[in-house]
Amino acid sequence: MTASNRIVLSSDHAAIQLRQAIAAHIAAHGWVVVDIGPTTPESTHYPKHGEAAARLVASGDCRFGIILCGTGQGIMMAANKVRGIRCGVCVDTFSARMIREHNDANMLSIGVRVVGEGLALDIVDAFLNARFEGGRHATRVEMIEALEG
Ligand code: RB5
Repeated sequence: MTASNRIVLSSDHAAIQLRQAIAAHIAAHGWVVVDIGPTTPESTHYPKHGEAAARLVASGDCRFGIILCGTGQGIMMAANKVRGIRCGVCVDTFSARMIREHNDANMLSIGVRVVGEGLALDIVDAFLNARFEGGRHATRVEMIEALEG
């Protein structure tokens, strides 16, 4: 079963501080944060952190995942390799809303070297406050899922 109020957070070494700011922000809005690190600044490899977060979303343990790296791109690519994951990188609030409303994204990726903290928190809010519209968009999401074989 999906834990509807749980959000997993993960990042590489580049984005620890922003990840922790996002954790505090969403916890203050009532979400249960599952922060899977890392917590120390040694260089690490974003694919394993993207995968770990994606597995918790794909299994239903967490409703959403928010992942971060320098650009948001590499960790997004890794997460999207996990079956059932639809993750987009967002640098603006419009895209963050639309990936929920039209694409039923279950993960959001942000690049700490691309957006500042204030915009990042607004992006997170836009993503979490939006709702999937279904209808014709559901058909298209099903087509994405069909590509997973
Ligand atoms: C790490 O230097 C950097 O490559 C990583 O954070 C991310 O930007 C990769 O997509």
